[in-house]
Amino acid sequence: TIVAAKEMVQQARDHGYAISAFNTNNLEWTEAILRTAQAQQAPTIIAASMGAIKYMGGYHTVANLIRNLDQELNITVPIAIHLDHGDFEAAKAAIQADFTSIMFDGSNLPLAENLSKTNEIVALAHARNISVEAEVGTIGGEEDGIIGNGEIASVKDALTMAATGIDFLAAGIGNIHGQYPANWTGLKLDHLRELTQAVDAASGYKMPFVLHGGSGIPDNQIKRAIELGIAKVNVNTEAQLAFHQGLRDFILSNQDLEGKNYDPRKLLAPGIQGIETALAERIAVFGNGNRI
Ligand code: G3H
Ligand code: ZN
Repeated sequence: TIVAAKEMVQQARDHGYAISAFNTNNLEWTEAILRTAQAQQAPTIIAASMGAIKYMGGYHTVANLIRNLDQELNITVPIAIHLDHGDFEAAKAAIQADFTSIMFDGSNLPLAENLSKTNEIVALAHARNISVEAEVGTIGGEEDGIIGNGEIASVKDALTMAATGIDFLAAGIGNIHGQYPANWTGLKLDHLRELTQAVDAASGYKMPFVLHGGSGIPDNQIKRAIELGIAKVNVNTEAQLAFHQGLRDFILSNQDLEGKNYDPRKLLAPGIQGIETALAERIAVFGNGNRI
């Protein structure tokens, strides 16, 4: 069932678990996310980056694809259609196309501009019951051409951004998109505690925080981050690696040469199975299974 993201993410924050936000890349990927969410009875966000939306044929194609699959696969768990790391134009396009959740990522802009554009997107989105995520600090690494230097979010910036009326907040806490380098020193969990305590105290409620770069972080750090206020964890790379591994094993063991396995429906199946297994494991760590 397609819903806005606000309620499921707020519930997660209030009850100490996190919603899985899984990036999609194509039809099969979207089905794999939906099937896994339904099997685990896990409220889930399907996220599409600007790059993925371009690849998949545009904003309306993505939104309608998710809506149609949700109906035809009889998905009963709450599912949000989310724009991941959108710029200002992308955020407006996603609102027009009836996405139910928008991340406006102005983290590469001067703070004043990030704030004013976030305010504009909040007004446009909330008028249509669409949830809004914003970002302060930056996420390290690169995702679909979005490059960040891993700047740690200051408490001051987090407080100002939280006051714009956004529904959840992404903050740089040493997290990185893509694979973590061997010398990575871990999430800045003490800093996360400072951020969430300050924002909770100022806002008078538990604002949900978002952890980007969710692939490859040790499970104990993710669980601790959830205890400290993370209520949405974004995962992209981990599913891509699982897809790649499944497909690679299939081809390297020459199974692609058997029967009619050149048929893409058969050729891609081991990769898709890999995605489903990886995502179910993530849901087990985030704690959003059986929350319906
Ligand atoms: O916005 C998407 C996520 O932050 C994904 O990061 O590819 O490192 O899992 P990841
Ligand atoms: Zn991200």
